[in-house]
Amino acid sequence: MKKVIAIYPGSFDPPTNGHLDLIERGSKIFDELVVAILRNPEKSPLFSLGERRRMLEDLTAEFKNVRVDVFDGLTVDYAARVKASAMLRGIRALSDYEYELQMAMMNRRLRPDLETVFMMPAEQYAYLSSRLVRAAVRLAGDISGLVPELVKHRLQEKLDPAYKLANRTSKAEKK
Ligand code: PNS
Repeated sequence: MKKVIAIYPGSFDPPTNGHLDLIERGSKIFDELVVAILRNPEKSPLFSLGERRRMLEDLTAEFKNVRVDVFDGLTVDYAARVKASAMLRGIRALSDYEYELQMAMMNRRLRPDLETVFMMPAEQYAYLSSRLVRAAVRLAGDISGLVPELVKHRLQEKLDPAYKLANRTSKAEKK
């Protein structure tokens, strides 16, 4: 029987528990799932491509049919290169729908044989986004439970002023 390969494209800056929830769901229904990080020259991301790739590889290591890759250009062209017949996208609140519908229709026009498959994350992640997580950490907000611990620490190292200060003090004390 034909193997169904799906891509899960996105920025993942940073990966959240919502992304991981979707990856787990996707890994159950597709034979192979490629988490594909967009190299986007228009955006200046918080985490480099290498950092995002390594985090996602660590976080998805337990799923044997999931791999992580980086791409640029059109997502449909990348999907064709990896022989994917489906594209997985998460849909949260109603506000996602308009944008996702437009993108799915454009992608269908560009490559009619690629199906966009929408999945909903678990309820507790319905309003979670990488953008809000970055904003909360910048203001020293508690993001426990919203991102994996590994991501939480990387975020705090980069953005949380209180965390940076505490670490600097404890390092200085050790000297
Ligand atoms: O996680 P994001 O930022 O919502 O992901 C958006 C993404 C990467 C799926 C979308 O921006 C994308 O596919 N960009 C690549 C260019 C492309 O193919 N655009 C859609 C048709 S013009």
